[in-house]
Amino acid sequence: MAMNRRDLLMTGGGMAAALAASSSGPVLAQNASPSVTAAAGSGSNDLAVYAALTNEKKINVTNLRELEAEAKKILPPYSYAYISGGAGDEWTMRENEAALNRWVVAPHYLAGVKTPDISHTVFGAKMALPVFTAPMGGQGIAHAGKEATNVKGTNEAGTVYVNSSVSNITMEEIAAAGSGTKWFQIYFPADRGYARELLQRAKASGHTTITVTVDSTTFSNRERPVRVGVPSPNLGAGNGVKTAGIDARTAAVQKADLNWDDVAFCMKETGLPVIIKGVLTPAFAAEAVKHGVAGVWVSNHGGRAIDCSSPAIAALPAVVKAVNKKAVVFVDGGFRRGQDIFRALALGADAVGLGRPVLYGMALGGAQGIQAVYARLKTELTMVMQLAGTPNIKSIGPSYVSSYDPISTYST
Ligand code: FNR
Repeated sequence: MAMNRRDLLMTGGGMAAALAASSSGPVLAQNASPSVTAAAGSGSNDLAVYAALTNEKKINVTNLRELEAEAKKILPPYSYAYISGGAGDEWTMRENEAALNRWVVAPHYLAGVKTPDISHTVFGAKMALPVFTAPMGGQGIAHAGKEATNVKGTNEAGTVYVNSSVSNITMEEIAAAGSGTKWFQIYFPADRGYARELLQRAKASGHTTITVTVDSTTFSNRERPVRVGVPSPNLGAGNGVKTAGIDARTAAVQKADLNWDDVAFCMKETGLPVIIKGVLTPAFAAEAVKHGVAGVWVSNHGGRAIDCSSPAIAALPAVVKAVNKKAVVFVDGGFRRGQDIFRALALGADAVGLGRPVLYGMALGGAQGIQAVYARLKTELTMVMQLAGTPNIKSIGPSYVSSYDPISTYST
């Protein structure tokens, strides 16, 4: 089934808002698509229901989990529903967080650690902490500054911003708005010419890795946005086709039959490290390594793709084993605490992606809100590392975590 980017927005599907249309050619073409109707959840140029938030201020963050309730008070209802929701019964979304607590921190006391160093380097990118901003499309629903505000806040927090191909502003504008490392994530289009254009533009504008998201090639079932009963807003399709001769409507269609040739195409076109996002099984991780990827990203899209797929942390250990150090391993989905990051690293992740809390921080405080989110995570991670006896990120290994059994955590 061919699916255009607008459809994804309508269903609350994987790629948000891409799709939202701006007033320029390609986007108008998307608007003109026969699949766009006035049904609830479809795109609309009536922005009256979207009072774009313009907050730019310091916020207090004592617990990332609490940001959602605060953001809910100020976000337009559709925005909150779209950001907060997951697929189906949202089991996977809930379990992403719940499953973390089936692992416990195993401290090494008296280790003589005074001030842990939480800085890290991945793919040559220096990070103030081993956490980065996961790709999220259509961020105009969270803040009037759209992705420019996010990349600014994320980079100023000292970490990497992953730019979604379905952003509301262009990837070049996003790259220019950030002072640090940018990586690019692509929803691979059906049109190879357009795919080439996106990849080449990403490289030319300074993105240093390519992530191919593989878990959202068709609709997912998101009920929250549908229930709100208002149209999704058209806030601009940043990366509309520029190459002469490519039909804008064709370019807006995502490739449903995505396969390894498309991954190879990304490698060949850019020469950059390519990461597969959406890895949930060890067999697929091993296959990815065989195909020469530089990274596998354990993710269920924050519970927004296949409901009842594995919680991210529960898939991680077997994926790490299958990868066997031949590629970098990322994980995301439900990470809200320093101890969550610690447990993921102990289970073999190289770094952790952060999704919704970044958008909530942005809604509440703009770029400064995002910095406050990261500042809190830095504080918590530093605390856990000092208490557990790990001097630096590399030292966090399997002996610092144990699976939790309510009868006896450790075998006797
Ligand atoms: C996403 N995610 C996502 N992933 C991706 O590869 N490309 C995209 O454009 C988007 N868009 C998107 C929009 C919104 C509003 C959300 C909340 C998420 C998934 C994202 O990268 C990440 O996998 C999850 O958000 C991580 O889970 P948490 O931290 O939100 O629980």
